[in-house]
Amino acid sequence: MAATMKLLLSVFFVFLYIDSCKSANLTLGTDVNVKLAYIENVNLIALPFITRNKNCFYTGNTTIKGISAIDFYNTSTPPKVTSGGVGFTFTNIKLRSARGVGLNYQIRIYV
Ligand SMILES: *[C@@H]1O[C@H](CO)[C@@H](O)[C@H](O)[C@H]1NC(C)=O
Ligand SMILES: *[C@@H]1O[C@H](CO)[C@@H](O)[C@H](O)[C@H]1NC(C)=O
Ligand SMILES: *[C@@H]1O[C@H](CO)[C@@H](O)[C@H](O)[C@H]1NC(C)=O
Repeated sequence: MAATMKLLLSVFFVFLYIDSCKSANLTLGTDVNVKLAYIENVNLIALPFITRNKNCFYTGNTTIKGISAIDFYNTSTPPKVTSGGVGFTFTNIKLRSARGVGLNYQIRIYV
């Protein structure tokens, strides 16, 4: 019983931590002396109680030197590079909104 309580409590605190960990501009590599190869605006409307997710995939022929993802709503969880990235010719960036908030991002890839 005590163990279950402890587990529940720690799960609760993990959720608290995730929920308070908001703010989400990603910048990787550099945007100096490079060429803007790709730009994508991501707009997903808010749905009550739901987190919105989006994977942004880019593939090119030149090595990626920089990535930026700007969160205009300033409420999302930090974006994650789930494949490739700086030093590769491709990348996948995973965006995740806060619960009940939409996504409003601009992704930029520099080569
Ligand atoms: C992210 O960038 C946007 C646009 O430049 C800015 O308004 C916002 O404050 C930034 N968020 C954080 C957490 O720095
Ligand atoms: C990459 O190279 C291939 C073959 O040379 C070409 O067809 C394609 O358009 C190029 N893609 C980009 C994003 O430059
Ligand atoms: C976004 O959040 C950061 C840190 O939480 C804050 O410094 C910044 O002013 C916020 N920007 C906007 C546009 O609300």
